[in-house]
Amino acid sequence: MSMMGQTLLVTGATGYIGSHTCVCLLQAGWRVVAVDNFSNSSPAVVSRIEQVADREMRFHALDVRDHGALLRLLQREAVSAVIHFAGLKAVGESVSRPLDYVDNNVCGSVSLLRALHLSGVRKLVFSSSATVYGDPVSVPIAETAPLSVTNPYGRSKLMVEQVLADLAQSDPEWRMATLRYFNPAGAHPSGMLGEDPRGAPNNLMPCIAQVAVGRRPALSVYGNDWPTPDGTGVRDYIHVMDLAQGHLAALERLYSHAGSFTVNLGTGHGVSVLQAVAAFERACGRSIPLRIAERRPGDVAACYASPARAEALLGWHAQRSLDEMCSDHWRWQHKHPHGYTGH
Ligand SMILES: NC(=O)c1ccc[n+]([C@@H]2O[C@H](COP(=O)([O-])OP(=O)(O)OC[C@H]3O[C@@H](n4cnc5c(N)ncnc54)[C@H](O)[C@@H]3O)[C@@H](O)[C@H]2O)c1
Repeated sequence: MSMMGQTLLVTGATGYIGSHTCVCLLQAGWRVVAVDNFSNSSPAVVSRIEQVADREMRFHALDVRDHGALLRLLQREAVSAVIHFAGLKAVGESVSRPLDYVDNNVCGSVSLLRALHLSGVRKLVFSSSATVYGDPVSVPIAETAPLSVTNPYGRSKLMVEQVLADLAQSDPEWRMATLRYFNPAGAHPSGMLGEDPRGAPNNLMPCIAQVAVGRRPALSVYGNDWPTPDGTGVRDYIHVMDLAQGHLAALERLYSHAGSFTVNLGTGHGVSVLQAVAAFERACGRSIPLRIAERRPGDVAACYASPARAEALLGWHAQRSLDEMCSDHWRWQHKHPHGYTGH
């Protein structure tokens, strides 16, 4: 389907997943209006996206909680759909700053939804998370699995999912795609875009990469006595470019079919911490020193997706291997040991 000429609003566009998705959108012919408040990203990313895509996008420094500014933007631009990435995502931080997570993730989404409602925009792609499955009863996890959350971050995602379901129920014009991401990893193959966490990273792949590049002395492995084949936690790592493509597939479905849907975006394969470390060592040619630490509260043994619904509904499945995730992640980290701005 050609999206030439359609205008898309992307919130949180300069973040990790947003930046890679913007590149794919621009290259597919979308006109992109991007916003971010830079609370977890850098202004330098805007020109990187344009450089990598070899296309221009319109960018506005804006907080999605600023309802008036959003509304004015939507009145100026002929936006026909939105991808809503903007939000805070650190589980540990959400435990110590729960109000910030309600404010940014829930109130920010409500502010956006009101602005969309008033401007007549009725197509939305929302970044949810596998964290809404809590401690899964069984794996692989299908979208029909029971939902339960173990921390304020997860609760904020589940609350927004519920608001979206109520809104879709209230007005059949809405077309919403709720995408539950598993564990994004990797970087753009150019080495020009990648994950640039502020402070200590929370996710495994950037932690390994920072050890490999010498920014941290050793990788903390949180528990080696989980009920998994090698005792370490098992997750579903998905290449950020596969994830980005999943957004394009979801958008195409919103333009071609009425109604709303929820899909997992994962590979369907569980990978342990030790397997991920071995793959990264192959990619970077260095050894990663490990330190076994206590299990973290709220962590689970194994979490990986059933990607069957995404395949059936969107014709989408992840295509890139763990080795590709590691080599792309390493290329980015090696070229930018201290991220975009060297902070
Ligand atoms: N990375 C993951 O592991 C993961 C997994 C599941 C879901 N998600 C969700 O996907 C989305 C994107 O994640 P990411 O990894 O790219 O995170 P990120 O922090 O790199 O990107 C989020 C972007 O949103 C911006 N932002 C935050 N609050 C904002 C606000 N109020 N107004 C405007 N901009 C704001 C930040 O500055 C940042 O650039 C988030 O909603 C996150 O919760 C991420």
